Amino acid sequence: MPNLDKFIIGFDHALRTLLTPAQTLRPVPGNGLPEGELNDLEKSESTALMRVNHVGEICAQALYQGQALTARNAGVQHTLAQAAREETEHLAWTERRIAELSGRKSVLNPFWHGGSFAIGAFAGMLGDKWNLGFLAETERQVTAHLAGHLKRLPHNDAKSRAIVTQMQIDEAGHATTAMAQGGADLPTPVKLMMKVGSSVMTRTAYWV
Ligand SMILES: [Fe+2]
Ligand SMILES: [Fe+2]
Repeated sequence: MPNLDKFIIGFDHALRTLLTPAQTLRPVPGNGLPEGELNDLEKSESTALMRVNHVGEICAQALYQGQALTARNAGVQHTLAQAAREETEHLAWTERRIAELSGRKSVLNPFWHGGSFAIGAFAGMLGDKWNLGFLAETERQVTAHLAGHLKRLPHNDAKSRAIVTQMQIDEAGHATTAMAQGGADLPTPVKLMMKVGSSVMTRTAYWV
C-alpha cells in the first residue's frame, strides 16, 4: 500500500481512537459481577487507576498503528494487527469502567496518542527484529505495571480487578508472540529509558 494511503488510514484511526467509543467482541471481564461497595476514597483510587490504564491503551493503539505503518514483513504486520484488535477491546473495557465509576478520561489523550505514534513509527523503521523486541519489552513492562495495579485496586472493586486481570493475561501473550516472531532483546539502557517514559505517563495520567 502506498505510504500516503497508510498515513490517511493511520490518521483516521487516531481520530476514531480519540473521539468515538471503542468496540469489544469479547464480553467485558467481570460484566456479570455486582458493583462493589466503594467509599469515596476507594472510588477515586479505582477511577484514577483505570484512567491510567485507559491512557495505556490509547498509547497501545498509537504504538501498534505506528509500528504497523513502518513494519516491513507482512507476517509482522499481521501479528501487530492481531494484537491491536485485543488492545481495542482493552480500550473499550477501561473506557466503560471509567464511565461506570463516573470518572473522566485523561484530557491529555491526544498528546499521549501523538507521542506514542511517533515512538511506534520510529521502532518500526529500525527493522522488524527491533520493532518486535520493542513491542515485547513494552508488553512486559505493561504486565508488571498491571500487577502493581492489582495490588493497589480496592479489594471490593471486583469489576475493575476482573478487567485488569484479563488485560494482564493478554499483554503477556502479546510479549510472547512478539518474541516468537523474532523479536530481539533490547539493550538495558533502552529498557530503562522506556521505564522512565512510562512512569512519567502513568504518574501524570493518575491526576489528569
Ligand atoms: Fe492492552
Ligand atoms: Fe498488549
